[in-house]
Order: sequence, then structure tokens, then C-alpha cells
Amino acid sequence: MKSLIIYATKYGTVEKASNLIKDKIEGEVVIVNIIKQEPPSLCEFDNVILGGSIYIGNIQKKLKQFAMTHEEELLMKRVGLFICGGADKEEEKDKELKNAFPAKLYENAICKCSFGYEYKFDKLNFLEKAMIKKITGIKDSVYKLSEDSIKDFINKMNKATL
Ligand SMILES: Cc1cc2nc3c(=O)[nH]c(=O)nc-3n(C[C@H](O)[C@H](O)[C@H](O)COP(=O)(O)O)c2cc1C
Repeated sequence: MKSLIIYATKYGTVEKASNLIKDKIEGEVVIVNIIKQEPPSLCEFDNVILGGSIYIGNIQKKLKQFAMTHEEELLMKRVGLFICGGADKEEEKDKELKNAFPAKLYENAICKCSFGYEYKFDKLNFLEKAMIKKITGIKDSVYKLSEDSIKDFINKMNKATL
């Protein structure tokens, strides 16, 4: 069993989630940051996991583009989809997750989840800090990545490959 994790991150939350998945997925795993590296051909992989983070309502363009251009091939694989985003309400999280990936891929995915978020105030620029403070009222770094949701995602992925 061979799995490929393709992720996009700005401040490292998605990378953290991707590494947690990598460490617990059964079989061989290849992990690629699509912002820095070209993903390998999908043909040698049974499972493909795509993960990105939400900025102003959208996932990273490179990841979305990849999902769109490889949709047909991805529909032949076991696919897991996840996002990290600052929305707290379930309804909003679902909307962002659904909007992040092509509709058929979303419907076909074995597991799909919004894992929560982090704000690292020491890393955000002035405008980003001001925006986060204004929109969310958050004034300091927070860690709200749901490791339980990540574990659940991994279990579903592993069960599907039995
Ligand atoms: C400038 C800015 C804009 C953001 N916009 C959104 C948004 O529209 N919706 C959302 O759910 N989260 C939003 N977030 C929260 C990020 O998705 C969250 O911090 C996530 O953990 C970032 O993951 P990354 O470090 O892997 O990029 C925003 C964060 C920043 C700094």
C-alpha cells in the first residue's frame, strides 16, 4: 500500500497535520509540499491525501489547481481531503471544505475534515495581525488544531485500505 500526501501551508499548521498523518498511515508514504515541489505521478499510489489552509475563504491556488487538473485520475484512487481554517462553526467549516475541492472529488472522498487552526502572532505580518484581530477578536497566538479529528481521519484512511 502506497500513499501520497500533497499539502500547502503558509505558517506550518497544515504541515504539522500532514506529518501526523504521515507517521500513522500504514504502508509507504510520500509527502510533498506543493508550494515548493512538483508532486510525483499519481499512478504508483493507492491513496492520495490533499490538505491545505484557508485564506480569505479559499484554499491555496496551487493545491486547488492540482485537484482540478488531476480530478479524473484522483477519482480512481482512495482520496482523503482536509483543510485547516479558523472557522469555529460546523456549518462554516463544512462550507469551506466543500468549496476547497472539486465537487465530484469531495463526494468521492473516503474521509474529509476540517482540522481546526492555529494563529502564530509572531509570524503574521502587521496587516494579517490587524485583520485577524478585527475579524475574530483574537489578539494572541492560539493552537486549536484538533488532534482527535486527525486521528479519526487516519483511522478511516487505514480502515479503507484493509
Ligand atoms: C490573513 C489570514 C486570513 C485568513 N482567512 C481565513 C478564512 O477566510 N477562513 C478561515 O477559516 N481561516 C482563515 N484564516 C486562518 C488560517 O486558515 C489558519 O490560521 C490556519 O491554521 C493556517 O494554516 P497554515 O499555517 O498551514 O497556512 C486566515 C488566517 C490569516 C492569517
